[in-house]
Amino acid sequence: MEKVKMILDCDTGHDDAIAIMFAAGHPDIELLGITTVSGNVTLDKTTSNTLQMCQQLHLDVPVYAGMDRPLVREAYHAPEIHGETGLDGIEFEELTYKAQPKHAVNFLIDTFMASDGDITLVPVGPLTNVAMALRLEPRIAKKMKRIVLMGGSCGLGNSTPSAEFNIYADPEAAHVVFHSGVDIVMMGLDLTLQAETTGEIVERMHAIGNKAGKLFGDIMSFTIGTVKEKYGKDACAVHDVTAVAYLVAPELFETVPMYTDIDINHGISYGRTVCDCNHVTGLPANAHVGMGLNVPKFWELVESVIRRYE
Ligand code: RIB
Ligand code: CA
Repeated sequence: MEKVKMILDCDTGHDDAIAIMFAAGHPDIELLGITTVSGNVTLDKTTSNTLQMCQQLHLDVPVYAGMDRPLVREAYHAPEIHGETGLDGIEFEELTYKAQPKHAVNFLIDTFMASDGDITLVPVGPLTNVAMALRLEPRIAKKMKRIVLMGGSCGLGNSTPSAEFNIYADPEAAHVVFHSGVDIVMMGLDLTLQAETTGEIVERMHAIGNKAGKLFGDIMSFTIGTVKEKYGKDACAVHDVTAVAYLVAPELFETVPMYTDIDINHGISYGRTVCDCNHVTGLPANAHVGMGLNVPKFWELVESVIRRYE
């Protein structure tokens, strides 16, 4: 089977870290590079966290730092979930890995423009880098195979009652992306909250007995604790992993095509993905929205990838 070529754009926090582990470890994925963006924590931290994961897992994947603030709104972070470092709860060694000198936006533009249109972009943080690349070089919209993103929600938000974090952290960037004409798959909270890491899942991955399994357990145990504190739930979703998993196991997902817009008005729904679930607008679908997940098979897939690490 030909490998799926992808670029991961992330704001490494805990679930982004697992998405890096999955993308780099799956045998059918060719991870061309990782771009980082301000999101869960500031850009310097999301970049160093990404480099830490690459170093821990001995990954030979170039990392490019991107935008350090949203397009318009003030920077918005989630330390209450990911801690001050963005990967609190993990003791890392001294960082020796370095980011590439090229800016992430230029890496995205150069890579897509030089491609045969066979690369999937997987953003799992705020869409600032993606929007900037689309504005700086609009021709990349025709060169992107598709965008499979973690963000948004048909229903309720997790940063406000209406808005999910990745969209709320840069709504104007999301508006650019959802109106770019690129084929979009949106893994919103309706889907990702089905991929919840429980204590049992932590034990299951820990029991694999390799470094990746222990790292999974240590990383997710921390956010199970912070999610419990903030939302009162004893489980934490690996939101970002679902977007990467879709590339290699789309049969585990049920998606529904629908017109989706982004509320960029400064009201109580600022940053909401307004999904036309009932097709009342008559507008053509611009996103395939994840609604159903085969949860047991999803965890079997994640476990199979973690087992591949030394
Ligand atoms: O709402 C979940 C998203 O926000 C995930 O990407 C998580 O990493 C945070 O960025
Ligand atoms: Ca993320």
